[in-house]
Amino acid sequence: MYNEIDFDIIDTAAEPPAEEPARQYYFIAKCREWVREFERKNGCLPTACVTTFGCQMNARDSEKLAGILRQIGYGITDSENADFVIFNTCTVRDNANQKVYGRLGELNGLKRKNPDMKIALCGCMMQEPTVIEKLKKSYPFVNLIFGTHNIFKFAELLNTVYENENSGTIIDIWQDTDRIVEDLPVERKYPFKSGVNIMFGCNNFCSYCIVPYVRGRERSREPRDIIREIEKLVQDGVVEVMLLGQNVNSYGKNLDEPMTFAQLLREVEKIEGLQRIRFMTSHPKDLSDELIQVMKESKKICRHLHLPLQSGSTEILTRMNRRYTKQQYLELAGKIRREIPDIAITTDIIVGFPGETEADLEETLDVVRTVKYDNAFTFIYSKRTGTPAAAMEDQVPEEQVKKRFDRLLKLVQDTAREQTAKYQGRVMEALIEEVNENDSSMVRGRLSNNTIVHLPGDASMIGKLVNVSLDQCHGFYYIGHAVDSAME
Ligand code: 5AD
Ligand code: SF4
Repeated sequence: MYNEIDFDIIDTAAEPPAEEPARQYYFIAKCREWVREFERKNGCLPTACVTTFGCQMNARDSEKLAGILRQIGYGITDSENADFVIFNTCTVRDNANQKVYGRLGELNGLKRKNPDMKIALCGCMMQEPTVIEKLKKSYPFVNLIFGTHNIFKFAELLNTVYENENSGTIIDIWQDTDRIVEDLPVERKYPFKSGVNIMFGCNNFCSYCIVPYVRGRERSREPRDIIREIEKLVQDGVVEVMLLGQNVNSYGKNLDEPMTFAQLLREVEKIEGLQRIRFMTSHPKDLSDELIQVMKESKKICRHLHLPLQSGSTEILTRMNRRYTKQQYLELAGKIRREIPDIAITTDIIVGFPGETEADLEETLDVVRTVKYDNAFTFIYSKRTGTPAAAMEDQVPEEQVKKRFDRLLKLVQDTAREQTAKYQGRVMEALIEEVNENDSSMVRGRLSNNTIVHLPGDASMIGKLVNVSLDQCHGFYYIGHAVDSAME
């Protein structure tokens, strides 16, 4: 595997190998020569900063970028005042794009002070041709642009940048791929927990969503590669994994030997030393009874299910191409709550989808009241060029959407507060994640149901599972205290 590779013995005078990941190891070795040159000149190693926009998938991709940069020899920093800065972008809503343009302006200011600084952009936003045109025209100081399908080629692209210092922006965007490259370096943000991709892309084409266009068709990783990765993570000290996919419930359909997500979970459950399993995201239309059964029987799968609703109106759901009705969703949520009583159900809801009426909003509010979400992410509909919804008539006026959004937000917050408070006084297991930034005598832990609890503690507790008494509920989180020694 990559961390057993000695990059110094790779012959960089030879031709690069054609196969992956050997080809990328070769380019990592080549980039290391450039870093050594930098060190000779400047007396220190160059620094690199990876900034992530968007979802957990992007966060995981950023760990891969940071892993490659680390192997090349960069010092990884959180400051964008660095020798190399890469923005891993999101385009799910327009405000994500606007944020990137704003931050690029700031980077240009830093680059003026440090002309050798290199700037790169990658991720979902780069898969949009109109974005590339705008960048070429208005942001010529960007050195490298690539998309979502060729992240594995990062070292090779970086080498191209080094070899073509003054030749403008290097752009490499692929339309789609069925390729999955394993065994590239990764730098994890947390030593004790990690995301693990189980699939890439999405085939659902919800009518408002740009993801299928920028992340491509759905493809699953081989179960043996997933298991091997998790076993390795556990050896390295990881106790919690988050299995990642746009729709984990359709995992395994395109494998040579098809396998269901529930079957995969059973295999992951068997990994010794692994303590907690999370996953994200579940499309309601594909959530099977088999999955509910596996969750119910499991000792490791966390008591949390993210089940995006998007709208409570069957008519809007049909226009969104979600392929379930309000009634079907309610039945599913009811079944889950009955079978797994302590489970937290969270959701995503969009307000202001084209044609949405006050009556449609009422349907959504009705679902929120009935399901009693433990948490909900609410979004104002954002028109994404190229999606079917962008061409729909009856776009809802902004002012009306804002009012509806505020009503929904108030209800989901009230409901989430009530749900969180249910556990007051109980003792529950928390995974301690970090020392509180503002008060070093307190640590932050996460319950199986994803609720946050703050308790007195210190850095030695990080990564441990601790039984915590949930003493005081403060809206969406608890203040508590540890009630016995850490359980290994
Ligand atoms: N406008 C607003 N929200 C959107 N989402 C996806 N596309 C859009 C859009 N065009 C939301 C959905 C999804 C979450 C990740 O982002 O609720 O579940
Ligand atoms: Fe987008 Fe729908 Fe796929 Fe989720 S399931 S990524 S909302 S198209």
